[in-house]
Amino acid sequence: MSETTIPRAGIIGHPVAQSRSPMLHRYWLEQLGIAGSYDRIDVPPDGFEAFIATFLAEGFVGGNVTAPHKLAAYKAMAQLDEAAASIGAVNTIWVADGKLVGGNTDAHGFIANLDERAPDWQKPGINALVLGAGGASRAALFALKARGRAITLANRTRATAEALAAHFKDSTGPAIRVIDWDDLAGAMENSDLLVNTTVLGMLGKHPLELDLTPLKPGATVYDIVYVPLETALLKAARLRGHRTVDGLGMLLHQAVPAFARWFGQTPTVTQELRALIEADIRAKSPGA
Ligand code: ATR
Repeated sequence: MSETTIPRAGIIGHPVAQSRSPMLHRYWLEQLGIAGSYDRIDVPPDGFEAFIATFLAEGFVGGNVTAPHKLAAYKAMAQLDEAAASIGAVNTIWVADGKLVGGNTDAHGFIANLDERAPDWQKPGINALVLGAGGASRAALFALKARGRAITLANRTRATAEALAAHFKDSTGPAIRVIDWDDLAGAMENSDLLVNTTVLGMLGKHPLELDLTPLKPGATVYDIVYVPLETALLKAARLRGHRTVDGLGMLLHQAVPAFARWFGQTPTVTQELRALIEADIRAKSPGA
């Protein structure tokens, strides 16, 4: 196969220099012996439509979409999968019958990571408490709802949480209950799973300062942040004896169905791959 005909994919965003997606997709390409490419594609904020117009002609079989283009991608696709249509954002593009299809594998990544790191989390009657109502929260809510979990949602700006609860009103699963951010302590007493989807705790942001004293004993604490790997929230939870789940697995697992769509083989999230990305995070963000 010549250089020009190998299937081509990449991460479309702005900026994309820090993206770890090339590292993990290239790992799988090499491991599976597939001739394909995966590159960083920096597309300026107002350039998505122009870029996507040339997508097929440029030889792309698909790609990932990250900030700030997830909504533009949602609007530009000929077709959407169920997750993307419900979440309102596209993070994965592939081609079917010569048309661009938009999917959202973040919800899959969110739940596959939880299934892997906390396999018994889905006992009957589990209550989830989700913090945050941004884009990442949408994927988490969609996934938890699809599994029929009772969800309580708290966000600094309550109105945004109310809007999200209304948005998901008709999707599979029980209705989302919204509470005030100031009422978290009460909700924690009854929660088996606490999920942070806010940006708090990310490198360069303030930590999520939450007194975990009221949290139900035995509850799992899941932070979708992965730089640092152990956020202040996860550290506090670990020290209190809670099981913790970090966000790196969500990144790894969201990539699996995307890779399978583009390159025709389903890759595996191995400990070796996780260690590779962990090492990169530690090298580039000392202390993380
Ligand atoms: P993403 O797409 O990564 O989810 P986002 O859409 O910008 O990012 O959402 C950021 C989330 O972090 C929101 O829930 C936001 O709360 P608001 O809706 O009130 O803005 C939350 N967030 C950001 N800074 C926060 C802070 N200082 N305290 C509490 N929540 C915060």
